[in-house]
Amino acid sequence: MNASAAVAAAVVPAAGRGERLGPGAPKALRELGGVPLLVHAVRALARSRAVGLVVVAAPADGVAEVVALLDSHGLDGKDIRVVAGGATRQESVRLGLAAIPEDVEIVLVHDAARPLVPVEVVDAVAAAVRAGAEAVVPAVPLADTVKRVEPNPGGPEPVLDTPDRSTLRAVQTPQGFDRATLAAVHAKALAEEAAGGTGVPPVTDDAGLVERFGGRVVVVPGHEEAFKVTRPLDLVLAEAVLARRRAADAY
Ligand code: CTP
Ligand code: MG
Repeated sequence: MNASAAVAAAVVPAAGRGERLGPGAPKALRELGGVPLLVHAVRALARSRAVGLVVVAAPADGVAEVVALLDSHGLDGKDIRVVAGGATRQESVRLGLAAIPEDVEIVLVHDAARPLVPVEVVDAVAAAVRAGAEAVVPAVPLADTVKRVEPNPGGPEPVLDTPDRSTLRAVQTPQGFDRATLAAVHAKALAEEAAGGTGVPPVTDDAGLVERFGGRVVVVPGHEEAFKVTRPLDLVLAEAVLARRRAADAY
């Protein structure tokens, strides 16, 4: 591996609307402690010595705005690029991946909506890929018991079964990949879609694509602060975590 191959690039899908967060700006541009979620997320990645380049997939109509935002928050020192994202998270990741130089061999994918991921998680994921894993996901055990149901929106839903909680993990980002593996599964998924789809439900993360096409995914420990800001209450929690960090830094 040459020097640039050993340094990872990160793709940050940031083109979502944030519908579950309620009306307002696109989620990645919503503020936490006066700073957009996206800026927190990019900083969290840039803090890692494992990461040399960050490619942000911005809302397609907001590329110039995102470039200006990243500039104004003084993120120089790392190579940060912005591309237009797509209609789905998967498409946004694919477009971001296409902007990464050919010689980069390790790619992390990190949601803009996970602004508070500790740098230790970023480092651990990158290290596991460098050590030879083709796909790595950080994850935490579940607090709640989980049941599989027959979906019946608005009505009672029959329970099918209860998976053994000790075997379940809630998966976070950044997820880390051997670049060739990630590019190959995204290309296969695109080809599948072009052929009219397979009736398989859409995957909600990149590791899910690797699994679908028979690859091996491993889990490393995630962190409770790497939670995703999805609903309004998550923003309240994120503000509290940030306040706790700022108080701790003041000592
Ligand atoms: N994302 C993206 N492009 C899309 C959809 C989502 O880049 N077309 C990104 C989001 O910006 C977010 C990440 O994927 O950083 C995780 O998605 P999610 O939490 O679902 O965010 P949104 O799609 O924005 O939220 P919602 O589903 O509530 O609308
Ligand atoms: Mg979404």
